Amino acid sequence: MHGICASHAPASALPPPRRHFIEGCIMNTWPHQSHLTLAAMPNAAYWARRHVENVLAEWQAETLQTDAKLVVSEFISNAVRVVGTLDVQTQAAYVQEPRAVSYVELAQLEQVKLRLYYGSGLLLIEVWDSNEQPPVEQLPDFESENGRGLFVVRAFCEKWGWYPTFTTDLSGEPRQSGKVVWAELVQP
Ligand SMILES: Nc1ncnc2c1ncn2[C@@H]1O[C@H](COP(=O)(O)OP(=O)(O)OP(=O)(O)O)[C@@H](O)[C@H]1O
Ligand SMILES: [Mg+2]
Repeated sequence: MHGICASHAPASALPPPRRHFIEGCIMNTWPHQSHLTLAAMPNAAYWARRHVENVLAEWQAETLQTDAKLVVSEFISNAVRVVGTLDVQTQAAYVQEPRAVSYVELAQLEQVKLRLYYGSGLLLIEVWDSNEQPPVEQLPDFESENGRGLFVVRAFCEKWGWYPTFTTDLSGEPRQSGKVVWAELVQP
């Protein structure tokens, strides 16, 4: 995947690095790998940050923690927003008393997936969500309150991009099943 997405071109305009990734069937040789599946809760980015902190400490890559947490927060927040999360009222009830929200209700939430790969001073962050739309980096202006996340991500990583993911249907035909947004970070 290296070198496919130039860091100065809008990532959304570039071809996806892997065209026929079948969800769950990837094989790779990164020496350190971590996969985390999260319910699309409003606090998913918080748990993702904590996970990144722990995993990078375990891999003795603490110098990447700050930047990695920022990138992961942006990717997970975007993913949770596009797949949908608890409504504001239910979220407030959950914060007050987690047991106030039934397991059935929580189980209906979509999932988002965080994957971390690390080796030779390079960290690859991947966030999967089930939405098929690509992320589109925007040029932030002074007035808008959002539209900055991916712009900021660009400043904190070597390169970022996205690729569609596929699953096979009953006839064995590949069918798009969402996408992965990825970023590479180099250890300082
Ligand atoms: N995972 C995603 N799936 C689909 N579209 C996405 C995804 N991530 C980003 N986008 C699209 O790209 C746009 C830009 O994302 P970006 O993170 O830069 O800004 P934002 O999320 O709108 O606002 P902010 O991050 O500043 O709160 C989003 O508005 C959305 O349309
Ligand atoms: Mg965002």
